[in-house]
Amino acid sequence: MSSSPDARPASFAMPRPALAGAPDAPAPQAPSPDALGPESLGPDETVDITGERQALHIPALLSELDRDFVGLAPVKDRVREIAALLLVDRLRGRFGLSSARPSLHMCFTGSPGTGKTTLATHMGRLLAELGYLRRGHLVSVTRDDLVGQYVGHTAPKTKEVLKRALGGVLLIDEAYYLYRPDNERDYGQECIEILLQFMEEHRADLVVILAGYADRMNVFFRSNPGMASRIAHHIDFPDFSVAELIRIAELMLDKEQYRLSPAAATAFAEYVELRMSQPRFANARSMRNAIDRLRLRQARRLVTAGGRVSRADLMEISAADVRGSRVFSGGLAAVPGHPGPGHPGPPPTPPAGHRAPPARPDSAAPSA
Ligand SMILES: Nc1ncnc2c1ncn2[C@@H]1O[C@H](COP(=O)(O)OP(=O)(O)OP(=O)(O)O)[C@@H](O)[C@H]1O
Ligand SMILES: [Mg+2]
Repeated sequence: MSSSPDARPASFAMPRPALAGAPDAPAPQAPSPDALGPESLGPDETVDITGERQALHIPALLSELDRDFVGLAPVKDRVREIAALLLVDRLRGRFGLSSARPSLHMCFTGSPGTGKTTLATHMGRLLAELGYLRRGHLVSVTRDDLVGQYVGHTAPKTKEVLKRALGGVLLIDEAYYLYRPDNERDYGQECIEILLQFMEEHRADLVVILAGYADRMNVFFRSNPGMASRIAHHIDFPDFSVAELIRIAELMLDKEQYRLSPAAATAFAEYVELRMSQPRFANARSMRNAIDRLRLRQARRLVTAGGRVSRADLMEISAADVRGSRVFSGGLAAVPGHPGPGHPGPPPTPPAGHRAPPARPDSAAPSA
């Protein structure tokens, strides 16, 4: 599978709208029959929608999503809907029917580690395969990549990022930090205005995804109706259940050719339950971090024991490796300087004048 434009059947080329300067510029109309190319269809012809779907690798991309992503049923449903819409639009275009390019700027809300960035990567590939985006690459940024520190700094910074993202997906993590109502001299507003202009002028060539916590995003949209009106899809990423987290961890271990012994699997289920209620819990990312530490403890155990080891020994995580976690001995709250236990929820709203966003949960967690 390729995201290169050459890999796509030319006959499916989506009609591109003229660059629109105004927010409510009219949607593009049906292409003229001449513009449809040799694969255009007459009014009495039919087209095999299943075959076309396969030719565009849609089933393969969707099964990859199902295989790699545990849970997230509502998210997957929305991706399927978007893929279906774009396919139908392409087919309509071949019959000369109006196939207005839908706006696909999106907002992904959810707790840390629920898969927002990972899905943005998949989305880029899918949109490239469907001919909606030229390249489908992901450029992931935060406020610091976009907003400058002095007069004249923000516009070039924001535009440089936008240019890099053209043809692909621009993911703005914790987009609400762009807006600082408490600081009149903040350059975030300038950045938002440039973004809005670009989202409109280059909507044929860029998908912007805003990501972050739902409640803060709602506040941001209330203060920035221009941004809210340009976001067509709001996708909420639910927190994972214990069973889903265990499945995610198993998938990760499997990919790295490790496995839990039966006793380790029991211990790991206990670990997940405990870890969820401790500070800086970050869903699937916490599973990734837990696995990194399991590997460390396994390695230390094997090296300390010495002697000969088998392939199976090198693959197996033991119950002792799991139970060596601090989560079992008083929890992460026992770490000096670490906040107390309890579900962390979103980090506190930053004080006025705050520059850098707060550390992400489980981004620099102590040895859990
Ligand atoms: N549903 C899932 N199934 C399997 N692995 C997942 C799933 N969701 C996320 N992961 C894995 O968890 C890790 C964190 O995911 P990701 O970075 O996409 O989360 P995020 O929502 O963007 O987090 P943040 O809000 O902190 O930016 C990645 O290693 C990713 O592959
Ligand atoms: Mg992310």
